[in-house]
Amino acid sequence: MPSSPSARTPRASLVLRTALALALAGCGADTDPSCDRSFLRYDNFGAPFIANWCRACHSAEVPPDMRQEAPVGVNFDSPREIRAWSYRISVTTGVIDSMPPAGGPSPAERQMLVEWLGCGAP
Ligand code: HEC
Repeated sequence: MPSSPSARTPRASLVLRTALALALAGCGADTDPSCDRSFLRYDNFGAPFIANWCRACHSAEVPPDMRQEAPVGVNFDSPREIRAWSYRISVTTGVIDSMPPAGGPSPAERQMLVEWLGCGAP
């Protein structure tokens, strides 16, 4: 059976390992008792984090020519949109640290973001 050549590139394998790690974290969230103990909520963490670090570019309220090339449609204005983008937010901001482009959040803040998203962004 032919296998896809791209599956063997280092980058693909990093993406695969990242996906696996996040999938495992995601699965754990259903039963992980640490989510019951987590104090992280949309109001006290998620909303201010996303407003401070992401929404200058990723908001429908930002005119297209002011988005600094953030893709049109990748918006984090509501809990629903944030949950819909949860996986890519975790990867970009909690694993490969490509977002925000200029950096900013501390490693501890990034870890809290991953925890919050992993618990379903309550
Ligand atoms: C200064 C503007 C800017 C800010 C602030 C910013 N982004 Fe982005 N974002 C971009 C640009 C430009 C792209 C498209 C290029 C790319 O994907 O690297 C992008 C793409 C994305 C994508 C889609 C591409 C992918 O890899 O899935 C996600 C998700 C994302 N950003 C998440 C975030 C999060 C989460 C934050 C806040 C922690 C954030 N961004 C802050 C400019 C920004």
